[in-house]
Amino acid sequence: MSANPTICLDDIDLSDLAFWARPLEEREAAFKALRQERPLAWMPAPKIEMPSAIELPELTGYYAVTRHADVLEASRQPELFCSGKGATSQLDMPEPFLEFFGSMINMDDPRHARLRRIVSTAFTPKMIKTFEDQVQVAADRIVDEVIDKGEADFVTEIAARLPLKIICDMMGVPESDYDFVFNKSNVILGATDPEYVPEGGDIAVALLSAGAELSQLVTELGQQRMKEPTDDLTSALVNANVEGEHLNESELASFFILLVVAGNETTRNAISHGMRLLTDHPDQRAAWMTDFEGVAATAVEEIVRVASPVIFMRRTATRDATLGGRPVNEGDKLILYYWSANRDENVFDNPFRFDVRRDPNPHVGFGGPGPHFCLGAHLARREITVMFRELFKRIPDIEVSGEPSRLLSGFINGIKHLPVTFTPGGAAA
Ligand code: HEM
Repeated sequence: MSANPTICLDDIDLSDLAFWARPLEEREAAFKALRQERPLAWMPAPKIEMPSAIELPELTGYYAVTRHADVLEASRQPELFCSGKGATSQLDMPEPFLEFFGSMINMDDPRHARLRRIVSTAFTPKMIKTFEDQVQVAADRIVDEVIDKGEADFVTEIAARLPLKIICDMMGVPESDYDFVFNKSNVILGATDPEYVPEGGDIAVALLSAGAELSQLVTELGQQRMKEPTDDLTSALVNANVEGEHLNESELASFFILLVVAGNETTRNAISHGMRLLTDHPDQRAAWMTDFEGVAATAVEEIVRVASPVIFMRRTATRDATLGGRPVNEGDKLILYYWSANRDENVFDNPFRFDVRRDPNPHVGFGGPGPHFCLGAHLARREITVMFRELFKRIPDIEVSGEPSRLLSGFINGIKHLPVTFTPGGAAA
């Protein structure tokens, strides 16, 4: 029994999808109890039944790492707590998945460093500057398309459209394929939710076919760009750079799938949670609207902290070690709960308060300090800022008008649909 009499620590099972269907307050309370009383809690292996013939690696339990200090300690020692043994997901990656999902997020140096070096060409300050203009144009168009309606599904019509357009533009994917990319990425990150893979459906098969279809799209694009390079990222990745390095076909496919899932769903959910938080906290919204540029930098970090779109990433102990002073054995899986670390009362004053001026805000929403820190953090911050600037300017009375429909997942803190209303045609604040 925990210090909180309503919570029995032994009953907290983060592997059980039912835990993630519980109300937010209950989940918050469970994580608080874990942080305070069992910061390295052993969790049982998830129970997964796949009707398909795909052989799953052995399912084992793991440590749930819930304190901020422990997440930092693990992130800073990638040689001890690595990403490349098994995977960074809860389950080790079954062999057939490696072709599509075996990207750099699941690798250690030196392979990771090589890939990160090549793809980083897209994220230089010069490239980011180009995207900044594109983000502005895209946000403007998105608002144009909804402004006269007076209501919208904020997720599908607003939040999801910006990162999707930016990533597709970046890679050179034509507009006619946006919906295709959107639907496939929903399956990949929402596979545990019945909206994306019907109950009783085969998750493994759904994931593999979504991976294969995205892979085919980018492979064909890569072949075209080898023949006729343009100034998009696909061209830069498949043709040798100044150091003579380039991605091969399967590296390009898995990087594209990583970009689509890592850059799309995360940013979309941050923007959607942001809209919900700003509606629920009118004082914070007023503070930001009154001094948009002055508050934007801290407001965006606070949205990412509270939203924590990526709930966790896994590491694996490469040898017997300690974490937070507690022993772990070689081969143990450790799940770093960024979501929990971002609510750690030892680091954040009043962690459950949404405060657009919170400073300092050492959240780990983009990952901890280490080689896997989010490659797209700068771009994501830009997208969130521009989207809210545009909304506040043109439809300042936009607000959430109904309950969010949450994604059923223990990995992505997602919102699938979020009704909003506003004065048609826009209005003065
Ligand atoms: C609010 C939005 C975002 C959030 C919350 C987020 C979160 C994260 C997190 C937590 C990681 C760390 C993975 C780990 O610890 O192993 C990560 C890595 C990564 N993110 Fe993001 N991300 C966001 C936006 C983006 C965008 C816009 C892009 C690209 C367009 C992107 C690309 C990546 C890539 C490529 C990695 C892997 C880096 C590596 O393994 O070296 N992310 N992200």
